[in-house]
Amino acid sequence: MKKTLTALCALALGGMSLSACGSSEEGADDGSITMGFAQVGAESGWRTANTTSIQESAKEAGIDLKFSDAQQKQENQIKSIRSYIQQKVDVIAFSPVVETGWDAVLQEAKRAKIPVVLTDRAVDTEDTSLYVTFIGSDFVEEGEKAGQWLVDNAEASDVDKDGAVNVVELQGTTGSAPALDRKKGFEDVISSDSKIKITASQTGDFTRDGGKQVMEAFLQSTPKIDVVYAHNDDMGLGAIEAIKAAGKKPGTDIKIITVDAVKDGMTALAAGEINFIVECSPLLGEQLMDVAEKVVAGEEVPDLIVTEETTFTPEQAAEALPDRKY
Ligand code: AHR
Repeated sequence: MKKTLTALCALALGGMSLSACGSSEEGADDGSITMGFAQVGAESGWRTANTTSIQESAKEAGIDLKFSDAQQKQENQIKSIRSYIQQKVDVIAFSPVVETGWDAVLQEAKRAKIPVVLTDRAVDTEDTSLYVTFIGSDFVEEGEKAGQWLVDNAEASDVDKDGAVNVVELQGTTGSAPALDRKKGFEDVISSDSKIKITASQTGDFTRDGGKQVMEAFLQSTPKIDVVYAHNDDMGLGAIEAIKAAGKKPGTDIKIITVDAVKDGMTALAAGEINFIVECSPLLGEQLMDVAEKVVAGEEVPDLIVTEETTFTPEQAAEALPDRKY
């Protein structure tokens, strides 16, 4: 489905003129585009690669990027967005820390006639006119791919051969789109096999340290663990440290499934310490700058731009690693 800028102006920006819709007074003067980008934080290898992609792509496109790091706090992102509105940037882009609670600030951007592009994470709102488009992954599908691998490998994943596949889940940041959707997709698929059960589930906040701490607690409190499902590589890598410290062999004594496929995760996968990774690409910068230029120029943009992604086994990781960009 396509949204024309005319439709966007009417719907999203309250019927203003095309030129005013795409560019603020500040940016229109010399024809250059100013983008305000409110990043989630620097919680993971994925996020670092995403920030690099956005900063490098802005430079290549000649877009003046105002960048802020919210340290995984919604209130910080809201402050940044308000500051971008005050500065009259041409376009605001952000990756929302959590799904809900954005309507008020997005209404302010709409009143200021500044288009908003969502990247990586979506918002949960009834009013889709508050943003122009979303560029990023299908997180439900990522969870489904993780679940499908486990269903297909259920027998080998019943490590203690007691007829039950006990999974502990390391969730991403509470209330974030990837945590909610990766959980949902995984649960939907594993429900087809009654042997597979999630026996413990807690947030590790998408960080390596969080994954390690939660896994340490699981190893103490949850007697039989066959599988770890971590919502990202970093938490899986933290879990590996905890498993080794408990005298067990990650990937063998406890199977590990993660999401992202950043270099550190792929290295652990190739070494057999992780068993399966679902890819989530952080390289969204080029598409974002392209969309920003189109929105400002009054061209059509799709409502939804979904990233194409794959999955990796240990063999595939070993093959892909030499050319891995992030
Ligand atoms: O929103 C994408 C997720 O955020 C990545 O999977 C994770 O690593 C990051 O922190």
